[in-house]
Amino acid sequence: METWRDKITHRDQQEEKNNNNIIPLLTPYKMGSFNLSHRIVLAPLSRMRSYDYIPQPHAILYYSQRTTEGGFLISEASVVSETGRGYKHTPGIWTKEQVEAWKPIVAEVQAKGGIFFCQLLHAGRISNRDFQPNGKAPISYSDKPLKNQPNGGFNAAEFTPPRRLRTGEIPQIVNDFRIAARNAIEAEIKSSKQLGYVLEIECSY
Ligand SMILES: Cc1cc2nc3c(=O)[nH]c(=O)nc-3n(C[C@H](O)[C@H](O)[C@H](O)COP(=O)(O)O)c2cc1C
Repeated sequence: METWRDKITHRDQQEEKNNNNIIPLLTPYKMGSFNLSHRIVLAPLSRMRSYDYIPQPHAILYYSQRTTEGGFLISEASVVSETGRGYKHTPGIWTKEQVEAWKPIVAEVQAKGGIFFCQLLHAGRISNRDFQPNGKAPISYSDKPLKNQPNGGFNAAEFTPPRRLRTGEIPQIVNDFRIAARNAIEAEIKSSKQLGYVLEIECSY
């Protein structure tokens, strides 16, 4: 009798035959207006080496080593504003200096034919007062402090209980994302949004 293992093996063999030994990961993909030459993507990975929230020249080598012609890369999460900080040495994209620092990194990726998206982040309550202007409480969609995760993912004591945003303050946060997206465009990076921190719903800008 054919077992589930045999079934999978037969299915894989059939697929391989159909594909004429083409490795699907290495086939092109049209992503909106972007023509990717393959489907292997650099996931956003925070490196915590952008001292004082400024991208550093060593990131030129890091990203360029991971670039291929027509390959898709997503940057490490880049913070949209002072209140959005929640991790040490993550890059920002809200000041002129940060935008200028991104430019040579993006230029190198583009010179090698890569498609580079910038991940925009506001850390919300995943922060503490040491990261916040004037040592205030972090802002969030909620005033509930974080709880320890059952799997020990993080220690809730490291985070300051947040202040819940008033409805009238939300447009300012949306505007911070808008400005950051424009800054990314100025640096010639495309922008994507990090969800789950301050804004729990996807918003368009
Ligand atoms: C060191 C490290 C840094 C990360 N930084 C980010 C980040 O800046 N933004 C993000 O969305 N995900 C981040 N991630 C999550 C990775 O992108 C994620 O692990 C990767 O996409 C693989 O997905 P998986 O863990 O679900 O298999 C990070 C993961 C690691 C291990």
